[in-house]
Amino acid sequence: MLKIKDLEVRYGGVSALRRVSIDIERGETVLLIGANGAGKSSLIKSIIGLVGPAGGQIELQGRNLRGLRPDQCARAGVGYSPEGRRVFAAMSVGDNVLAGALTMSRKKSAEVYGWLGELFPMLNERKDQPAGQLSGGQQQIVAFARALMTSPSLLLLDEPFLGLAPVWISRISDAVREIQRRGTTILMSEQMARPALKLAHRGYVIRGGEIRHSGNATELSELALDEAYL
Ligand SMILES: Nc1ncnc2c1ncn2[C@@H]1O[C@H](COP(=O)(O)OP(=O)(O)OP(=O)(O)O)[C@@H](O)[C@H]1O
Ligand SMILES: [Mg+2]
Repeated sequence: MLKIKDLEVRYGGVSALRRVSIDIERGETVLLIGANGAGKSSLIKSIIGLVGPAGGQIELQGRNLRGLRPDQCARAGVGYSPEGRRVFAAMSVGDNVLAGALTMSRKKSAEVYGWLGELFPMLNERKDQPAGQLSGGQQQIVAFARALMTSPSLLLLDEPFLGLAPVWISRISDAVREIQRRGTTILMSEQMARPALKLAHRGYVIRGGEIRHSGNATELSELALDEAYL
């Protein structure tokens, strides 16, 4: 479904990703584990078109994504929830989520908002409230819902649990499970792997811009323990 081969990302003279290759099959949830500065966001941003790689290939269902703009990647089926759960603070919860709808018809976007509201009642209860007034966990739900507006075939979640209280981690985990049941393919990143490992089928350990290990969830749990990612 997603094939990344020999991806290279540089910022000026700094090399952030070196020959990164990963493959994700349809329906899989794959975890990218790595410390601060390992290159997790650089990889995720390359897939959604926010970062322009210096080399390598990115293909989604056989279609080239490299060189496409973020809106074109979104139309090609990629949903993206950024790290730090960026919301438009002054905009209402409803408008934040609907900002993910791109050029969808109003009827279609109302329909999707409807099912998202069943998943997260807060989206209806606080629809008109400025998103900047929400707690961190609630803002993560808004970012998550915005990423789902286009019904993506591949969902990118960049550190969705960072800084959240256990109750929000468990709510967001439940939502991820619901998305998994619907067949969505997921790539998520985390530094602290424990809650994310409960959701992932397998994953990769990234360090210094290179993939150092890959394995199934059990293998990664052991590795992560050794390398202090838990
Ligand atoms: N816009 C940028 N300009 C220059 N260097 C950057 C930029 N973005 C990232 N880097 C550098 O690239 C490397 C990888 O950063 P990246 O943000 O991908 O890591 P990360 O794994 O997402 O880290 P974190 O867990 O802190 O989010 C780091 O050395 C970082 O300093
Ligand atoms: Mg990051």
